[in-house]
Amino acid sequence: MSNEKLYFARMKKYDEFYTRYEDIQREMTAYIEYNSKVFKNKTILLPCDDPEWSNFTKFFAQNFDRFGIKKLISTSYALNSKMHKVGYQPSLLEVNDKKYKPKKSDKFGKIFTLSKDKTGDGKINVDDLEWNYLDGDGDFRSDEVKKLRDQADIIITNPPFSLAREFFSWLVDAKKKFIIVANKGAITYKETFPLLMKNKIWSGRTEWSGGLWFETKNLDDVDKVIDGKNMKNTPSIWLTNLEHGRRHKPLPLMTMSDNLKYSKHKEVNGKKSYDRYDNYDAIEVPYTDAIPSDYKGVMGVPTTFLDKYCPEQFEIVGMDAYEGTPPTKKYPKKTKVKDGKRMKSKTGTMGCVVKEKTFGPGVYFDVGYPVKAFYTRIFIKHKK
Ligand SMILES: C[S@@+](CC[C@H](N)C(=O)[O-])C[C@H]1O[C@@H](n2cnc3c(N)ncnc32)[C@H](O)[C@@H]1O
Repeated sequence: MSNEKLYFARMKKYDEFYTRYEDIQREMTAYIEYNSKVFKNKTILLPCDDPEWSNFTKFFAQNFDRFGIKKLISTSYALNSKMHKVGYQPSLLEVNDKKYKPKKSDKFGKIFTLSKDKTGDGKINVDDLEWNYLDGDGDFRSDEVKKLRDQADIIITNPPFSLAREFFSWLVDAKKKFIIVANKGAITYKETFPLLMKNKIWSGRTEWSGGLWFETKNLDDVDKVIDGKNMKNTPSIWLTNLEHGRRHKPLPLMTMSDNLKYSKHKEVNGKKSYDRYDNYDAIEVPYTDAIPSDYKGVMGVPTTFLDKYCPEQFEIVGMDAYEGTPPTKKYPKKTKVKDGKRMKSKTGTMGCVVKEKTFGPGVYFDVGYPVKAFYTRIFIKHKK
């Protein structure tokens, strides 16, 4: 298993990562800057949250009036249903309220809503949040939470990593606007990539490099402690179907001949030409900033290209592999590959040859042969 796959397998076992206020603020500001009315008169649902200490609930409650939100709904998952329960206790807000029921507290999810000036101080903010127990445990797949989903205009959250695919399908089924945190690997899912390719969803505003920092309750896996909080860095990104300005900024690029002369990357600089794949008619571009501005054909680029993808500049024509399938290859020796079949193996070590057509232009790969494999590649072309 590749390091990346091992990493995601490990991440799938832990769900309790809490998003930082500054990360939410930076991301949401981009949608507001692009369209100041983006949240106006909208019902916003924050599922899979822990509203008492969630920065999502805090951020939207604090900005309720400024954004002109119609209604904020935030739901939590019951403690007994969580995979990891360490470090939790009922909040003071809950135990000091006459609604508090010790027997219900661990078994039921909670719902927090904000829509009116409960305190009568002339503003709607955090102090006006109202809460109650849900009828069930707050599972996003429950009919109760699905009903809330169907009422909402926009869904915003950092969902459980262990259920990333299921959460994404749940979201897409609802046909709602959304802004969510996802792991970088999620872009290769068969549930997501076709939508990315068709410009139905895209990367959020926050750049991908450096991943995202979360507060974690897993004391066995802490990267650093900031202000007494245990923090973990994960290769996470934001995904959305709401417009923001960064996605319309074209990448500044050099021509092919300038790249070959001046590129800072040794894989490109000083070569006579870009490498070509042996099993697909495209050039290999190992770095997004090495995409030649004047190449008219198909180019294989790293998946991180999606962080810089401007739909007015490029079209995406496919990807060599969905998660779990082997990537595009450059064969070490000139072995002929025709329609996905290697014609002759010199070493005799050829394993089973599987012909597989992926989404998009139709890329074929061999399985079980010791060839030099590239990382997963996305295939793009310049827009005319
Ligand atoms: C990655 S954490 C994020 C929490 C919060 N949204 C934030 O970003 O600060 C995901 C949360 O989803 C909860 N969760 C796990 N499985 C769930 C499910 N099936 N339905 C609803 N929530 C779930 C976890 O307990 C955890 O609180």
